[in-house]
Amino acid sequence: LPFFYKRDLLKFPYKYLKKIVYLEIFLFLVLGCNSNEFNYPKIEHPKDNLPSKVRIELGKKLFFDPILSQNKTTSCASCHKPEFAFADTVSVVVSNQLDIVDRNVPTLMYVGYKPALFAEGGVKTLEQQAVAPFLTTHEFGLDIHAAAERLKSIPEYQKLFKKAYKAEPNALDITKALAVYQRSLAPFSSKYDQFLKGDLNALSIEEKAGLNLFNSESLGCSNCHSGVLFTNHKFEKSIAPSADKGRARFTRNKNDNHKFMVPTLRNIAVTYPYLHNGSVNYLEELIELYTTDSLSGYTNLTKQEIEYVSAFLMALTDEEF
Ligand code: HEC
Ligand code: HEC
Repeated sequence: LPFFYKRDLLKFPYKYLKKIVYLEIFLFLVLGCNSNEFNYPKIEHPKDNLPSKVRIELGKKLFFDPILSQNKTTSCASCHKPEFAFADTVSVVVSNQLDIVDRNVPTLMYVGYKPALFAEGGVKTLEQQAVAPFLTTHEFGLDIHAAAERLKSIPEYQKLFKKAYKAEPNALDITKALAVYQRSLAPFSSKYDQFLKGDLNALSIEEKAGLNLFNSESLGCSNCHSGVLFTNHKFEKSIAPSADKGRARFTRNKNDNHKFMVPTLRNIAVTYPYLHNGSVNYLEELIELYTTDSLSGYTNLTKQEIEYVSAFLMALTDEEF
């Protein structure tokens, strides 16, 4: 300031100010265009189970191996099918257990970001969750320790467990490897991601119109399906009537009745049928349901607008699963 003091106070700062603005625009363009890494949220890995190539390889092998089930017919991939973004196209998996309300198989893409698992959020980590299929008779129905014993007789598993966890095949490391593999299922490779990274032509005019509608206040989809994961991970009432208590199954709180964790909408094109009970088959049908439901006060979507929103949601499909 003393430097400018004797001079024309108005002129000098103005000149510099202009340069700074130009410089900022220049830097913004250079940095903005060069950083092809869009800032995606980071997955939090547990300290005692950091990812590595061989751990992912082991987890993937386990995920697809029916040896983990009692009669050697069922693997994780029997229900979480890779071609459907690790979901399934049958509406619910049938169980013969009395207390269990059966649910639609959810996608496992981006599951590493979830703060809690299952629609009621009763399980905290993917490591803990991996035990569940072993306990359920209609899934694996084989004690996880017995499964580990089976793996001990297979040289390739011996080798992989040693490399990955410096141990013989064992129950704990089965859960860890499965968790690491599932956390790796987050490629962010959809058309929408290309758009986010700066390729403004990655989305068609229809898809962009859908994006605008989706984010519009009147439709309000992004109030719950927010951010790049398209979920705020909160528990909200489902629009599908069913006897499923949802969140209340875990909290035993009446206010949580029929609430479910808001699901991601990534890869929604291939994870049909939709909702916790798989009661809706088509995306357009579901969007229409939303526009006539009190959840979203908007009731005036035209057929065309419904198609736009649907087109946008289809653009959230990753290049590969
Ligand atoms: C018989 C079909 C079946 C098999 C086999 C199966 N799952 Fe699932 N999985 C489901 C269903 C159905 C749900 C939803 C349950 C719920 O929300 O209560 C689910 C939920 C999950 C979830 C929670 C997802 C979320 O969004 O909260 C994870 C993680 C998971 N499974 C991983 C696995 C792994 C790992 C294996 C193998 C060790 C496996 N599943 C085997 C049917 C299956
Ligand atoms: C108040 C929060 C909320 C709002 C607003 C909302 N959703 Fe949802 N959405 C949910 C919840 C919770 C579920 C899971 C319900 C279930 O499983 O039964 C869901 C499920 C979905 C599904 C099915 C996901 C799947 O994997 O089965 C789609 C598609 C969807 N929403 C699209 C939309 C669209 C489009 C809008 C705007 C018109 C919207 N949502 C507005 C909370 C919301």
